Amino acid sequence: MSPDERVHIEQEYARDLLEIVEREPSFLALLRVHERLNELFQQHQEALLEQDIVRARERLVAYERELLAHMHLEEDILLPVYARAGAIPGGPIELFLGEHRKMREFLERFRAALAELEAYPTDRRRGIIRLFDEQTMFKHLVEHHDLREQNILYPTLDRITTEAERRELLRRCLDPYRP
Ligand SMILES: [Fe+2]
Ligand SMILES: [Fe+2]
Repeated sequence: MSPDERVHIEQEYARDLLEIVEREPSFLALLRVHERLNELFQQHQEALLEQDIVRARERLVAYERELLAHMHLEEDILLPVYARAGAIPGGPIELFLGEHRKMREFLERFRAALAELEAYPTDRRRGIIRLFDEQTMFKHLVEHHDLREQNILYPTLDRITTEAERRELLRRCLDPYRP
């Protein structure tokens, strides 16, 4: 994919996302951000599969940038509002924060593993297999986390906010995607 094509897709993605929220202000629109993050991670893994470590690192950097931005927004903007709902079975705030922390720790290990793959090319194939194994655990964590947000965090936020508040919070969440 050429850089021009990628910019085009990202603009289209951002426009779609903003339109969806404009039509129906629901935090469930953020599931589109999860989908996009999964796609970026997949691109990183495809590069790994091709043993293209430079490209794998570039794709991981892009993924990490967007994932960290998304988690910051959830932590700084959404979880303080979610706290108003009181105790929610299966969805204490500490659980979301703990999963975010584990995801950041995984990302640090992936970065270290990629540096090692670059430093020791003779062991590359086995190193890539080890990294895939660890990334499988990471993907399970992300899957559970995203499901918890889809089933608990985002619907609760929809329930406890007014439409005006939802529009304002979503506007802040989607600011990074504005062209
Ligand atoms: Fe999250
Ligand atoms: Fe999320």
